[in-house]
Amino acid sequence: MRRLEWLASDVNRLVENGKGPERVDQAGGYVRPRRAGVSGSPTHIERSGEEQHFMAKVIVALTMSLDGFIAGRSDAEHPDGEGEGVRRIFDWYFDGDTPIRPYQEAERRGVPVPPFKLAAASAKVFEELVDSGGAVVTGRRTYDISGAWGGNGPLPGLPLFVVTHRVPDQVPQGESRYTFVTDGIESAVKQAKAAAGDRWVSLMGSSVPQQCLQAGLVDEIQIHLVPVLLGTGIRLFDHLGPDGIDLELLRVVEAPGVTHLRYRVVR
Ligand SMILES: NC(=O)c1ccc[n+]([C@@H]2O[C@H](COP(=O)([O-])OP(=O)(O)OC[C@H]3O[C@@H](n4cnc5c(N)ncnc54)[C@H](OP(=O)(O)O)[C@@H]3O)[C@@H](O)[C@H]2O)c1
Repeated sequence: MRRLEWLASDVNRLVENGKGPERVDQAGGYVRPRRAGVSGSPTHIERSGEEQHFMAKVIVALTMSLDGFIAGRSDAEHPDGEGEGVRRIFDWYFDGDTPIRPYQEAERRGVPVPPFKLAAASAKVFEELVDSGGAVVTGRRTYDISGAWGGNGPLPGLPLFVVTHRVPDQVPQGESRYTFVTDGIESAVKQAKAAAGDRWVSLMGSSVPQQCLQAGLVDEIQIHLVPVLLGTGIRLFDHLGPDGIDLELLRVVEAPGVTHLRYRVVR
């Protein structure tokens, strides 16, 4: 029930009337009110009698350099996923003093997790993402580079869907249920949405977000924008087709070493 209330209040905040974003301090960020008459909503709500049905929102939430890369050129040379570009753009995860509760809880259960310590403003954004997560869809490279997250997924306990042409013979056992999807991206997202219920489906890597953007499956993009120019690497917004995609700015949160941007995909 708390989840439903949270989503409802989020939608309500977005439909308040107003004149656009205002700059606020690092702890709060700002929310741009949605324009009257704009169709769709970050969370699609269907009413049936007295019941409200919340469908999973599909989001791309990734860390990106100012020139558009989500990893440096040498990612595949580092089996621990610590390619040089990745290390430079992920500093903000470790530059503060605020831990992320669900990861702390996982650590207490004995699950090996990254030692996240974020600045307070970033922790608020990241914890919102983690708390809202219902399932993850990733490509096979991210799965391999991360060492399959030891069976625990990017967030321990969350179901993970891996699109691939090569189902692995062996999968490490951990807290997350892994599903290998060989019949296409739409099938992966459909299965992930079913698993996520009223929570968010998060897309990882570059190829999966690109395919989903092309297929019109993405509801929201959250970019953790890092002030570095990598110059080369794996670009997030490639291969999107000739027509372009319109976005509406929902929120900007400034934090040390990173700016958190949140957009709705306009359909
Ligand atoms: N900055 C961030 O926040 C962030 C977050 C996550 C990952 N990353 C980075 O993203 C990079 C990986 O992204 P990527 O785009 O190169 O690779 P990816 O999306 O992780 O994996 C691509 C692979 O997935 C499989 N695949 C993709 N779509 C498929 C489909 N529709 N059907 C069947 N199989 C499909 C194919 O592998 P097979 O044909 O071999 O099965 C394909 O080669 C890594 O460098 C990682 O570190 C960055």
